[in-house]
Amino acid sequence: TLFEQLGGEAAVTAVTTQFYANIQADATVANFFNGINMADQTNKTASFLCAALGGPKAWGGRNLKEVHANMGVTNAQFTTVIGHLRSALTSAGVAAALVEQTVAVAETVRGDVVTA
Ligand code: HEM
Repeated sequence: TLFEQLGGEAAVTAVTTQFYANIQADATVANFFNGINMADQTNKTASFLCAALGGPKAWGGRNLKEVHANMGVTNAQFTTVIGHLRSALTSAGVAAALVEQTVAVAETVRGDVVTA
């Protein structure tokens, strides 16, 4: 699975931590996370990604369409955030082909997150 190829839960969590660091350093998308506990956010998104990448634990959290409703995320903002995931994967030393396969999995939630 992609989960295994990336190095399992610890590797996915490390990439997710860097992903949110990149987001918070980008003023065009950082404000969405004002007031959000980023340690919890990192753990939840890492759990979601582990499941989506073929890991052994099913996602036990909330439905992503309900979670992201009314945030007003645009397609352009989502694309920006995907770029921050790509950077996080690349800076972790993940091979380019595996980066793109992982990004493709994250892209499957675009329709649940984008509402504007
Ligand atoms: C939750 C914003 C993309 C997965 C949240 C929350 C915010 C947010 C503000 C916290 C909601 C709350 O606690 O009240 C955004 C923005 C995105 C984006 C602005 C893109 C522009 C994504 C993507 C994924 C994702 C790409 C998955 C790959 C999650 C998960 C939660 C969450 C798993 C927690 C759900 C739960 O509480 O069970 N998002 N998100 N989000 N987001 Fe996103």
